[in-house]
Amino acid sequence: MFYINVLLNTITRDMNIDISKIEATGFLDIDINPTIDLFADINKLKKEKNAIVLAHYYQEPDIQDVADYIGDSLGLAQKAANTDADIIVFAGVHFMAETAKILNPTKKVLLPDLKAGCSLADSAPANLFKAFKDKHPEHLVISYINCTADIKALSDIICTSSNAEAILNSLPKDQKIIFAPDKNLGGYLNKKTGRNMLLWNGACMVHEIFSLEKITKLKIRHPKAQLISHPECEEAVLNISDYVGSTTQLLKYAQTSDVNEFIVATETGILHQMQISTPNKTFIPAPPNNSCACNDCPHMKLNTLEKLYICMQYELPEITMNETLRIAAKKPIDRMLEISKAAGLVG
Ligand code: 13P
Ligand code: SF4
Repeated sequence: MFYINVLLNTITRDMNIDISKIEATGFLDIDINPTIDLFADINKLKKEKNAIVLAHYYQEPDIQDVADYIGDSLGLAQKAANTDADIIVFAGVHFMAETAKILNPTKKVLLPDLKAGCSLADSAPANLFKAFKDKHPEHLVISYINCTADIKALSDIICTSSNAEAILNSLPKDQKIIFAPDKNLGGYLNKKTGRNMLLWNGACMVHEIFSLEKITKLKIRHPKAQLISHPECEEAVLNISDYVGSTTQLLKYAQTSDVNEFIVATETGILHQMQISTPNKTFIPAPPNNSCACNDCPHMKLNTLEKLYICMQYELPEITMNETLRIAAKKPIDRMLEISKAAGLVG
């Protein structure tokens, strides 16, 4: 905290920026000229500063359109590990930008809104998780990348929804495993691999509120449509799905399948790339059990094109991390990247 304050004070003194506001709001709340071309100016800043913009599929379409790379959590982690840019601008949520910083201690990692968190990461407080882990000393800990650096530091291997199965397959069948923090992904993996991993009781607020009843009615109304779902969804939704996969896997499936109509049970941001790559196919967002027609992640959608521009211009807010924590959190990420490489999942 001391370090971040010194850093912010030094940077902002000359710019007349009140940093207490960043701490309160999560972003630099600065008025920008509404006539500027944000796309052109962001592209200009990228070149001037040797910056790369990495965006998750759940970001708003404008951010995806201006990004240098759009991907799932595995692709983004891999891109962050291999970039030669001086500045990584992460259009995603905090744990993703934190992962980029863990892999790139000497680079500047920016997040347009520091308050872009994750309900799944929040569902595993480090002190409670450590107590749980200590009760099961023979268990190996596999944590989903959607967790804080503190949880990563308590883990043996990190996984994403793209590589979780490959990581499990690399371990002996009788290996005792704790899986955290997503109980839905963990339950899905237990069923698929025949393992009996101990599951932490966490879930994603976006994926656990899909309405089975409304999806069932949609399927009746669209008999030719296939239901494609992210494994963070609840078991009841996964049970009636035609295909289950990470965001990248859902996108590839929609692109290569002979089917022309899909009900998509994940955050709605992914529909942008689905529609761009297969404009003749129809994508219907699966409805949640509230009054909305589609399901946006309130954390992902805190980032806007304006905040992205401001954060690139002022190089704030920046992700900083204690070095001891960073080194501990890096070990299980490195192990994930090694296993993924051996399984042919990353280059
Ligand atoms: P993937 O993009 O890795 O499938 O993860 C989805 C997600 O919920 C990210 O927050
Ligand atoms: Fe977290 Fe769920 Fe949002 Fe992904 S979609 S960032 S898992 S709350």
